[in-house]
Amino acid sequence: MPKKCPKSFITFGYFCRHETIPMNHLPKRYLITSALPYANGLKHIGHLAGAYIPADIYARYLRAQKRDVVFVCGSDEHGTAIPIQAMKEGTTPQAIIDKYHQAMKEDFADLQISFDVYHRTSDPLHHETSREFFSYLHERGELETKETEQYYDEASDTFLADRFIKGTCPHCKSNRAFGDQCESCGTALSPDELIDPVSTISGNKPIKKKTSHWYLPLAKHEQFLRDWILDQHKDDWRPSVVGQCKSWIDGGLQSRAVTRDLNWGVQVPLEDAAGKVLYVWFDAPIGYISATKQWALDNDKDWKPYWYDNDTQLVHFIGKDNIVFHCIIFPVMLKLHGNVLPTNVPANEFLNLEGDKMSTSRNWKLEMRDFINDFVKKENGGDQCVDMLRYYLTQIAPESKDSEFTWKGFQDAVNSELVSIFGNYINRAFVLMHKLCGGKVPRFVEELADEKDHQLVRDIAEMKSKVEASLEHYKFREGLFDVIDLARKGNKYMQEKEPWILAKSLAENPGNQQKIDNCMHHCLQLAANLAVLINPFLPSTAKKICGMMKVVDKMLDWENAGSMKLLSVGYSLREPQLLFRKIEDEEVAQQMEKLKAGLIMAEGKSAENNPVEEKAPQALKGEIVYDDFAKIDLRSGIITSAQKVPKADKLLQLEVDLGFEKRTILSGIAMHFQPEEVIGKQVVVVANLAPRKMRGIDSNGMILMAEDKEGKLHFVQPENAIAPGATVS
Ligand code: 2FM
Ligand code: ZN
Repeated sequence: MPKKCPKSFITFGYFCRHETIPMNHLPKRYLITSALPYANGLKHIGHLAGAYIPADIYARYLRAQKRDVVFVCGSDEHGTAIPIQAMKEGTTPQAIIDKYHQAMKEDFADLQISFDVYHRTSDPLHHETSREFFSYLHERGELETKETEQYYDEASDTFLADRFIKGTCPHCKSNRAFGDQCESCGTALSPDELIDPVSTISGNKPIKKKTSHWYLPLAKHEQFLRDWILDQHKDDWRPSVVGQCKSWIDGGLQSRAVTRDLNWGVQVPLEDAAGKVLYVWFDAPIGYISATKQWALDNDKDWKPYWYDNDTQLVHFIGKDNIVFHCIIFPVMLKLHGNVLPTNVPANEFLNLEGDKMSTSRNWKLEMRDFINDFVKKENGGDQCVDMLRYYLTQIAPESKDSEFTWKGFQDAVNSELVSIFGNYINRAFVLMHKLCGGKVPRFVEELADEKDHQLVRDIAEMKSKVEASLEHYKFREGLFDVIDLARKGNKYMQEKEPWILAKSLAENPGNQQKIDNCMHHCLQLAANLAVLINPFLPSTAKKICGMMKVVDKMLDWENAGSMKLLSVGYSLREPQLLFRKIEDEEVAQQMEKLKAGLIMAEGKSAENNPVEEKAPQALKGEIVYDDFAKIDLRSGIITSAQKVPKADKLLQLEVDLGFEKRTILSGIAMHFQPEEVIGKQVVVVANLAPRKMRGIDSNGMILMAEDKEGKLHFVQPENAIAPGATVS
């Protein structure tokens, strides 16, 4: 039995860089983790691209290799982020975690993230596991206690740690800095570093008060971290990960408090610790262990080898903001607790959206749920849309630098690659096989094989190892590119062989049939190979191809890649189904509109939260009788065009469809809306107002608008879409 290099993460078929002997030792088992998302809100596609899709591809690839793999995740339900969200939503922390745990679980399932378990840190099993972990370190003297002065809010009787305190960032001077991190520049902070700190609970200036906490003395473990990361893993971990670790270590490792004065979290398991809970970043990663325990309970398995046997390959998929916790703090905890250490932490950079950082507070984001509702759950949506998103997010995965999601980019990736290259190849192979080979897999006659046939066979075999090497090294973008490239090669092969031309002269050259058969045989074997290779990335697509081929999903076992015998000669195949639909221009335009509308809404909300100049309420006008009101004919309409009125800053010239006629109406809303924003809006029109000439243009009616306390205008609209011309009373 070849030995596993003690210094390396070695995987099958590669040379160990520490000893130049081929290593064919496979880890006995794999434990894959995706960062536990905070249960304080819905998650966006940046999260999906960073920690979930790559982990899912890896897990599916390993499962297709029949390796022992467990893929765990769950909701992170502690920390100050939860009570803060509860305050925002006017509810309890428990209600918040219940709502978002369920929502996130559903969203991940809808996008086919194949966790073996999706746990939650509020579960008693997790509390027990975290307490045991803390006690183990405490009993062995691995934690220090310290009394310090910390910020305290007298009004709410609360110590202000993490998100409970905000102020100005000492680095970028943004006022969106919290006691743990600056929202603007991302720098990790402590409350004491904030300039002009205030309580996020009461808005008051805090005082300082003494309190005791338990600390993890990281400096004691510096040599271990240097050897383990900066020496042992300097070549196989991503440079950005090693780089971040190096700067933390070189910057001097400080002791980290692992407890907080809070009433929300895992109680510290000590008698003299009333009112103290474990710091969320102490208990959350332990969530990977409790999730594994839950999986073992549910499946009648043993969880221990996954966390105690060194022949486990533990891989944490995270975003770059979580590097220090997964590469420095948690590994120190694991080492002290006698657990396995992560073999790799393939952290991704960030995904931007249409030229800007994604942000929940500014509403500049695309939530997973929005995509699910607008594409997956729409008519003409379904699984194909899940795979379209998985495709684009993998193609632009921020593996080595920040990358960007654009709706145009999404459309191009789907239309020009998935539809035109991959989908087109599979479709042509099936259509031609039905047309030219009677719907059955034709025979291949070796004697007739030419160089193009041999090249295709080599390409298929080579692609298997290329994709394998990419996936083993967490290069998912590259792996996907190679699969698409193989489909591209298939299109080229078909194009060069031109079986449809050979078919035209069959009567004169009956020998052409075998040439056609040879070509189609290869094309179909390639189609089956594409299903195997695309499966980890786009699982529904792979399944659909299996359905078209009338084969069981077992064909998707990874060992089948590279084979030219996946489909038996004479086997009849189904008619092709289109694998992907195109993304239309209107869909891109609609999404862009939605994005802008979200931003405007967020600006409105932030104005609400920070009222600057509130308008005084207007005095009520004099009383009218019903007959006065009944004279007004209000009708619903739709704005069909809009333009600025030259030399009139405030006026927009609108065309409004009232169903029975179209009207030109001048409206004084130009300071509030751009013309393109109002097209398509449903409005309520005073339809019998006498015409009025303004700037030489007749205005035939008036559009009802409501003005909020900041002076911002809003259209008065029926709640649901309604036919133009409907009366409003
Ligand atoms: O950054 C976050 O969203 C954290 N909730 C990630 C936790 S990962 C792990 F440690 F649980
Ligand atoms: Zn900052």
